[in-house]
Amino acid sequence: MTKKLILVGAGPGDPDLISLKGIKALQQANVVMYDALVSEELLQYAPNAIPIFCGKRAGAHYMKQDEINSCIVENIKKHGTVVRLKGGDPFVFGRGQEEAEFVASHGFVTEVIPGISSATALATVQNIPLTKRGITESIWVTTGTTSCGELSADIELAAQSTATVVILMGIGKLAEIIQLFTKYKTENYPIAIIQNGTLANEKVVCGQLSNIYQKVQEQNITAPAIIILGKVVDCAQIYACKINKI
Ligand SMILES: C[S@@+](CC[C@H](N)C(=O)[O-])C[C@H]1O[C@@H](n2cnc3c(N)ncnc32)[C@H](O)[C@@H]1O
Repeated sequence: MTKKLILVGAGPGDPDLISLKGIKALQQANVVMYDALVSEELLQYAPNAIPIFCGKRAGAHYMKQDEINSCIVENIKKHGTVVRLKGGDPFVFGRGQEEAEFVASHGFVTEVIPGISSATALATVQNIPLTKRGITESIWVTTGTTSCGELSADIELAAQSTATVVILMGIGKLAEIIQLFTKYKTENYPIAIIQNGTLANEKVVCGQLSNIYQKVQEQNITAPAIIILGKVVDCAQIYACKINKI
C-alpha cells in the first residue's frame, strides 16, 4: 500500500477548473480531505475514498491547522494515499507547505499538484488582464489580513507601485485599503471586487476608490472575495459586457 500525501489544487471554485492530474490523484485516493472553498462535486472522482471535510461553513465547527496535520498523518498510516484537496493553488496562501513539512517529519512523502489560483483566474474570467503592455508591468498579490489579524503592511507598499494589486482575504478591511490607496492614487483609480468567483453565486462589482465602498455595501459583498486595483480593471469594461453585471 502506497502511503503518501498528495496536495491537490482544486482551482477557484468551478469544479471544471481542476487539472487532469488532480483528477487522476483523486481516482487513486483512499482518503480525501477537502476545504470549504472546494466544490463537493469533485468527490465524484474519488467514489471509493473516505471524504473528510476540513473547512468552516456557517460558523460550524471546523478543524484547526494542527488537527488537520494530525488527521493527514493518521489517515496515511491507516489507509494509504491521502489527497488533500485545497482551493486554488495549495501553495498560494494555502498552507500546503506546512502540511507537507508535518508529513515529512513523520517520514512520509508529499506530491504537489498545482491548481488555478483565485489570485489570477478570477480576473481573467472577468476579462480583466492583470498585465497589459503599456499599462502595467507587474502584478502584486498580497493578503489583506496577516496571521495576527492585522492589515498587511505590504498593502501600503503596493499602493505606491504601478503594479496591478490583487488582495486576497481583504474584504473585511476594505475601508482601510481604500484609505491607503487614496494616499497615493486619484479618487477615480479603478477597482474591482469579485465574490465567489467562477461559481453560480458569483458577484462582481466594479468602481473607483471614491465609490466602491458604497457599492460593496449595497450589493452585500462578503468573503470569499478578492480585490483588484489597477488601471487594467478599466480595460475589461472596454469590451466586456459581463462586468458591472450587478
Ligand atoms: C486562504 S486563501 C486561499 C487561496 C487559494 N489557495 C488560491 O490559490 O486561490 C482564501 C482566499 O482566497 C480568495 N478566494 C479563493 N477562492 C475565491 C473565489 N472563488 N472567489 C473569491 N475569492 C476567492 C478569497 O480572498 C479567500 O478569502
